[in-house]
Amino acid sequence: MSQMIEFDEAAARAVEAMYLTPDVVAQRARVLDLLAPRPGEHILDIGSGPGLLAEDLARLVGTSGRVVGLDMAPAMVMMTRTRLAAMPQGECVAGEATKLDFPDGSFDAAVSTQVYEYVPDMPRALAELFRVLKPGGRALILDTDWRSVVWHSSDEARMARILDCWDGHLADPHLPAKLGPLLTKAGFHVRRVEIVPMLASTWQPVSYAAGIMRAIHNYARANGAAKGIAAADVQAWYDDQLRLVERGAFFFSVNRYAFVVTR
Ligand SMILES: C[S@@+](CC[C@H](N)C(=O)[O-])C[C@H]1O[C@@H](n2cnc3c(N)ncnc32)[C@H](O)[C@@H]1O
Repeated sequence: MSQMIEFDEAAARAVEAMYLTPDVVAQRARVLDLLAPRPGEHILDIGSGPGLLAEDLARLVGTSGRVVGLDMAPAMVMMTRTRLAAMPQGECVAGEATKLDFPDGSFDAAVSTQVYEYVPDMPRALAELFRVLKPGGRALILDTDWRSVVWHSSDEARMARILDCWDGHLADPHLPAKLGPLLTKAGFHVRRVEIVPMLASTWQPVSYAAGIMRAIHNYARANGAAKGIAAADVQAWYDDQLRLVERGAFFFSVNRYAFVVTR
């Protein structure tokens, strides 16, 4: 049985640390460029997580605007609330992406990064996104396709088994490839699609690659057996990566896909 990640306090702290690395800071900068928030706008951040993007959005819409973070995990709601505490234009509510508790046409724009890949009922989530946007409103959606991984290993077959296990942490590890038609069916106009790469061509201890390697190691240790992967195999995979790091032979990349849409 695959097991989706639960965003409890420990997971929330790990996500926050990973999302403060230069790679994910650069991703947020690109997301903000593409969404282009303006002073005075009302913006919804679905699955706001640690609240780093919500904080940037609140700064950019200013005190004449409004930013609402929403997340289903209490630990994440607390983190976003803490980040927004000094900004009266920002708030965070507990909620579910498939059941947004806002009136129709509430927001000028919405953003959801690395969230819909966890949502089993995407038609419903997109119907809700469409409903809460004003006519003409825009949204940015960003998710990872885990088929896009290029990760050097001394044992490709073992790497494939570990990545297959990791796929289970999401409702859909290949959502981006299907997102265009889902968005069109929900009524959106897809204006732009682009790749936001996470690339580590050399090892950096404070990086997305280092964070995701730890996360995959932990996940595979807890869930590998259900996929027929022995604990010794999981450890051998991790030790191989450490050896590649020592030899200066580490290489990792994965692509996020950003969709800019209008209602
Ligand atoms: C990987 S984090 C991304 C956080 C944030 N969007 C960012 O990019 O920094 C995924 C977040 O989505 C939230 N999430 C997952 N499924 C959700 C759902 N169905 N409704 C609301 N939030 C959800 C999780 O609780 C978690 O905070």
